[in-house]
Amino acid sequence: MCRSTTAIRFAGVADTPSQPTSSLIPHVLGQTLGELFAADPGRAERYVVVAGDLRIDYSKQPIDDRLVAALVDVADAAGVPARRDAMFDGERINVTEDRSVLHTALRTPRDAVLVQDGHDIVPDVHEVLDAMGAFADRIRADERITDVVNIGIGGSDLGPAMAAQALASFGHPRLRAHFVSNIDGADIHETLTRLDPASTLFIVASKTFGTIETLTNARTARDWLVDALGEDAVAAHFVAVSTNAERVSEFGIDTANMFGFWDWVGGRYSVDSAIGLSLMILIGPERFSEFLAGFRIMDEHFRSAPLDRNAPVLMAMIGILHANVLGRATKAVLPYAQELSRFAAYLQQLDMESNGKRVRLDGTPVPGDTGPIVWGEPGTNGQHAFYQLLHQGTRVVPVDFIGFATPNHPYRNHHDLLVANLFAQAEALAFGRSNEDEPHRHFPGDRPSTMILAERLTPSVLGQLIALYEHIVFVQGTVWGINSFDQWGVELGKELANRITPELIGEPDPSAHDTSTNAAIAWYRRLRP
Ligand code: F6P
Repeated sequence: MCRSTTAIRFAGVADTPSQPTSSLIPHVLGQTLGELFAADPGRAERYVVVAGDLRIDYSKQPIDDRLVAALVDVADAAGVPARRDAMFDGERINVTEDRSVLHTALRTPRDAVLVQDGHDIVPDVHEVLDAMGAFADRIRADERITDVVNIGIGGSDLGPAMAAQALASFGHPRLRAHFVSNIDGADIHETLTRLDPASTLFIVASKTFGTIETLTNARTARDWLVDALGEDAVAAHFVAVSTNAERVSEFGIDTANMFGFWDWVGGRYSVDSAIGLSLMILIGPERFSEFLAGFRIMDEHFRSAPLDRNAPVLMAMIGILHANVLGRATKAVLPYAQELSRFAAYLQQLDMESNGKRVRLDGTPVPGDTGPIVWGEPGTNGQHAFYQLLHQGTRVVPVDFIGFATPNHPYRNHHDLLVANLFAQAEALAFGRSNEDEPHRHFPGDRPSTMILAERLTPSVLGQLIALYEHIVFVQGTVWGINSFDQWGVELGKELANRITPELIGEPDPSAHDTSTNAAIAWYRRLRP
């Protein structure tokens, strides 16, 4: 059955030169995935790109050579190569905060040179890495420490929490990592009740050291420790990771116990900075170097591969096709690896805080849609929850599948079943099964997916995966002409919460709010014990 091009929603795509995605419309295919595969036996080989250790198969996407060429033209016309080079060179591309965007500098080799404002920053990066390494080795050798608690939120939590879980099988056998983020006291309460102060190390991780959730949790942890061991114990049980030495010191942590980073590292791009200290303690400095080397492999690929063989560019542009031409609002990331169960949550911040923007760099509205709603759960769990909608729902959800040949556990029979399910789901989504007589049992197919495969989930492969998505987000932000590196959208809610907090405890101020908010405040005041 031929897919009618007229059925395609050209959602929000203005036909102006400032919106380059409109040029894709004439190239959109009128064929289903089944038809494309039937007509082109070489498709499964041609639409695979190898980037480092990742084999990325995008043959089950609605593309052909002409459309790929058109997508690459859009990326080129939007200035992706020049802006990519500007980012790597440290130009101040984060214009609304007047900052460079140099997370890629965090993984440069020791002998590289990268001058920022007349100063080579590579030795600074390695000085911190060396200090982290020495500290991590000390903790790993210290039999008295069994538990490491990272207190942070957003980029100061999601990266290390996701990676610590992903690489748990490389972890030190004595050490357990915990991640406390939520202002909800249930989070820290549940963690502290399982811990012994004498054997616990706290890492307070905050770029700004001004985030209320982190400071509140850190104070609670400090009180808990001081109650048990006295004030003098703080120096041995608390370290900080931040860009703000003054606030760290005000909080009561000696800056000798602080690991720094720089304002040119965005929070959601900081897992490979000192924010990764908890991960480094868990897996050790050598494995952490392998993790950084993985990022570097993808950076090199992104910088040097031609655009039509460039994995981040291809995946980004296929995402643009879905978002701006085919009107698809969401994207599912479905790893067939239990260790990656926090990967979608990590990508939510990376993608949605970066590209959830409505105005372009010059402040004018973006004419089409920007970043997708990213979501996902590991397979096979998701299959028994939301895959029904993926197969037979009215909305088409583009999927990124992720899988590995060799598990990090001994149960090969489980792994064969897991991988069979991964391949089966991609096949079923793409090709469906016709049953015109029984509509409830009809699988329409033609549902797109990309499959990312690697031999094994190692520190390097995880670094490659993260950098792949960092660069996808970058390419998409560039094509949309938005600033992927600020996050003003989170500020209003924070400001209003600061205004409401004293009204819950002290005097309410009804003139400050709408009637619905006033009623909620009054309800809480009535019931607050
Ligand atoms: O509120 C959003 C945010 O600013 C994120 O961008 C950031 O990762 C998070 O808060 C935590 O910030 P910090 O590391 O400064 O505590």
